[in-house]
Amino acid sequence: MAEDQIEYYKAKYQTIEDLPGVGPATAAKLRENGFKTVEAVATATVSELVVSGIGEATAEKIIEAARKSIAFTFVRGDELVKLRSNIRHLTTGCPSLDQLLGGGIETQSITEFYGEFGTGKSQICQQLCVTVQLPYDQGGLEGGALYIDTENTFRPERVIRISSRFNLDPQDVLKKIIFAEAYTSNHQMVLLENADEIIKEYNIRLIIIDSVTSHFRSEYVGREMLASRQQTLNKHLHKLIRLSRAFNAAAVITNQVMAQPDVFFSKMVQPVGGHIIGHTSHSRIFLRKGRDNVRIAKLTVSPYLPEGEAPIKITERGVEGEEYA
Ligand code: GTP
Ligand code: MG
Repeated sequence: MAEDQIEYYKAKYQTIEDLPGVGPATAAKLRENGFKTVEAVATATVSELVVSGIGEATAEKIIEAARKSIAFTFVRGDELVKLRSNIRHLTTGCPSLDQLLGGGIETQSITEFYGEFGTGKSQICQQLCVTVQLPYDQGGLEGGALYIDTENTFRPERVIRISSRFNLDPQDVLKKIIFAEAYTSNHQMVLLENADEIIKEYNIRLIIIDSVTSHFRSEYVGREMLASRQQTLNKHLHKLIRLSRAFNAAAVITNQVMAQPDVFFSKMVQPVGGHIIGHTSHSRIFLRKGRDNVRIAKLTVSPYLPEGEAPIKITERGVEGEEYA
């Protein structure tokens, strides 16, 4: 574990076997059903464990113990200052974008890039997989990247080219990118639910979901499914926040836009996922096309930075952009 990784993830129980009331048989049932970590148990519902063959009383007891173990409910102010002091900024490799973001992408929170097709969302994600591996003094986090791809757009060849630009050995870089393609929204969720061990093992400091909403959007169709879509998406994003805090990692999601449903003949667009993503992503950047290969990045939501715009360019070398006045 890197020095700046969080102590507050000192869960009381390290493995599911440590939970009171979990013997070998229960542990086996939990593992079989995908509840492999204390955190997975903490976020389970009683009925999910009952379906896995665990008695209701036991299920209640172990969920409670797991939740207490990782609980992050009350923190003293001085502890909070300490936690926040661990936050780092990951360079995007693009000075104009870093400037807009107040130094780069923050760890311990979710940053969302949204915009129409071809605006550079996936390009930025692929570049971040490289920059996260840079040394701290060059704006990196000296760690690996976890890339959950829902649209099959990740291209190793692109990563290779971007690596050379940052003077990193492309083969080394590729070894530190853990890639998974998600075929459905459910699969996407399961991948993240089971990511703890991989994140630890590979010292992952950047978690990307590109795009977070596309499966949800195509699977949950119609108004009557909206509520359940939002609930599921909410659960997914909270898992992402917890992981980013636990491992002091940056979490980056991409999102498409849709025309505002109640505004006809308007060019207004808004990100998919509505208020759920709005409440869970801490910084949101809207990308739009400019002339040629120029894109304009606009910071639309940030906890403390002013709104602003930065030009970026997609080139052979990746995503580039000069600091602006
Ligand atoms: P969707 O996922 O479709 O919503 O789009 P996106 O926002 O993820 O777009 P993406 O990041 O895939 O950006 C695609 C843009 O990058 C296109 O305009 C491509 O022309 C450009 N691009 C991709 N690779 C290269 C490259 O090697 N050189 C140059 N010059 N441009 C590239
Ligand atoms: Mg894309």
